[in-house]
Amino acid sequence: MRFSTFANRYQQNAGTVQLMEDLGKATAAEGPIYQLGGGNPAHIPEVEAMLRDAMADLAGDAQAFGRMVGEYDSPGGNLAFREALAGLLRDSLGWAVSHENIAVTNGSQSSFGLLFNSFAGPFADGRHRQILLPLTPEYVGYFDVGLAEQPIFDGRRPEIDLLPDRQFKYRVDFEGLELGDRYGAVCVSRPTNPTGNVITDGEMAQLREACSKADIPLIVDGAYGLPFPGMIFTEATPFWDDNTILLLSLSKLGLPGIRTGIVVAHPEVITLIRNHNAINSLAPSRFGPTLLTPLLQGKQLQAVCEGLVRPFYQRKRDHALAVIEHAMADLPLRVHKPEGALFLWLWFEGLPITAHQLYQELMGHGVFVLPGHHFYPTKIEGWRHQQECIRVNYAAPDEAVTEGLQIIARVARQAFSL
Ligand SMILES: Cc1ncc(COP(=O)(O)O)c(C=O)c1O
Repeated sequence: MRFSTFANRYQQNAGTVQLMEDLGKATAAEGPIYQLGGGNPAHIPEVEAMLRDAMADLAGDAQAFGRMVGEYDSPGGNLAFREALAGLLRDSLGWAVSHENIAVTNGSQSSFGLLFNSFAGPFADGRHRQILLPLTPEYVGYFDVGLAEQPIFDGRRPEIDLLPDRQFKYRVDFEGLELGDRYGAVCVSRPTNPTGNVITDGEMAQLREACSKADIPLIVDGAYGLPFPGMIFTEATPFWDDNTILLLSLSKLGLPGIRTGIVVAHPEVITLIRNHNAINSLAPSRFGPTLLTPLLQGKQLQAVCEGLVRPFYQRKRDHALAVIEHAMADLPLRVHKPEGALFLWLWFEGLPITAHQLYQELMGHGVFVLPGHHFYPTKIEGWRHQQECIRVNYAAPDEAVTEGLQIIARVARQAFSL
């Protein structure tokens, strides 16, 4: 078949494709499988019960159900949902937002392409601007969306603080960080996928100030953050202002199947999203917004995030850490301080094979993880660290996490010839 050059970007196996394919392979494979890769959230029985009840109410309401399945929504997303969410953000976080600051998308992944290509690539003044990722490793799902010929991401190497209990934490290296005119936007995920890092309030304040000085937006990906799903286990203040583009998602709450993303931003950005929705899919799905609106209005959603979701993942994190402490005590291993999201980022210092080789070995033993090198937009010369880390999702059932981590310990021990 003769494809245009546009098709090139869909003919290669991008990191995001590998990640999602592995999820499929793991469910189709024979023998015991330990799915510690991908970004699937856990099935939390109480959360699913609440959602089932909401669904039953909806199915029993002929009018609401009829509208949800039988009518296109407006391209910016469901108005009642946007109003309810704006109310929540005003009341619980004190942000000056209305529905005009909110748009709905079919999963937050679907807005990255539009946003990154709108702030990076060729500009009318002849310059090529990039998106600065001030702290890499960063979410692999960003890297493959660029339409420009030249790379649209510039990822910075972080400072590494070594902490007690064989932990470490990445920190933004502000030394020599000049935004100048090179960048069209700055982007961070907070909490961060893949590391479970929560960039501190101090770092965020510095980034905000730098962005406002350079007159470029700060994109904050809050897929795991506040107000939902609230997977943050440390002190961190959420913020929003006119210069912030905040991305939220219903996925990590337990709803990745219904694909609902949210953008909170200046109305100019919301117009872009609205038009993009209309042009590419006529309208975003009505399902997530219709299901969630009563839960937002009745404040059940916040109660569930605080009372169930956060403690659930905190317990899962502690379980995974305890297994590691026991099974990997003899390995040259450090774990990134897990402050949020649902991942552990394991750093095997001096690993004699690459993270990719380790990942392949592990797949042969039925353990799916993600090799660390995918989480950088480019290779940083002389920084072996990029090849020494793997990401482990600890949302799977406890037995799978325990056995999977024990297999990782065995395979890593072999790699180190211990
Ligand atoms: C940091 C981050 N942002 C965004 C997304 C995309 O989420 P969704 O498209 O399901 O809303 C993910 C998914 O794993 C993620 O980890």
